[in-house]
Amino acid sequence: MTEHIEAKKGEIAGTVIMPGDPLRAKMIAEKYLDNYKLVNKVRNMFGYTGTYHGKQVTVMASGMGMPSMGIYSYELYKFYDVKTIIRIGTCGAYTSDLNLYDTILVDQVYSESNYAYLQNESEEHIIKGSSTLNELIKQKAKEIDIPLVIGTIHSSDVFYKENDNFKQINKEYGCLGVEMESFALFHNATVLGKKAACLLTVSNSLVDGSTTTSEERQNKFFNMIELALSTLE
Ligand code: HPA
Repeated sequence: MTEHIEAKKGEIAGTVIMPGDPLRAKMIAEKYLDNYKLVNKVRNMFGYTGTYHGKQVTVMASGMGMPSMGIYSYELYKFYDVKTIIRIGTCGAYTSDLNLYDTILVDQVYSESNYAYLQNESEEHIIKGSSTLNELIKQKAKEIDIPLVIGTIHSSDVFYKENDNFKQINKEYGCLGVEMESFALFHNATVLGKKAACLLTVSNSLVDGSTTTSEERQNKFFNMIELALSTLE
């Protein structure tokens, strides 16, 4: 039990798959896991532990934004001995080279956030995901025939901006798109010597304003979920 998670030690698997949305965690448990058990419901941040093809896994939500992801990923790594967290989320596209529903494997994340500085005075603003984990994800994606776009993503602290400078961030840092959590996840993994990866599905475009319906999203996001689950060892 921690400040924010009521699961007992031993009730959380070594690998955690983390969508942002608690209801997506519930849907994944119901659709994919065998013998699953609800291990966290504090603040409705649902976490389920079960098996997928015989392998133990926990699916637990991170909530939205770096402060929320920062709390849950830190507690999972530090107090539950979690070794690997794979975030599965959505992003907004910064470039017309991306299409709605493309699956992105985040190679590295850029953020102007002061999360890392406040956490351990790190002045780093670009952090890489775990290379061994990313290699495994790439290999599994090939095996199950899921096309991946691999690149840099922007983690932002602000969803609604009065003047969005996405073109400049795309140009300066090569960011393909934007989400709001992976910088905190990758930072915590680095600090605690753990593994982290992030898979994203493009849900909207900042270039042309196009977006997806929640019904479409539900189905098209299965690629990313199945890819994350296929990496369990
Ligand atoms: N901005 C920030 N985070 C996001 C977006 C976006 O447009 N789409 C999905 N996550």
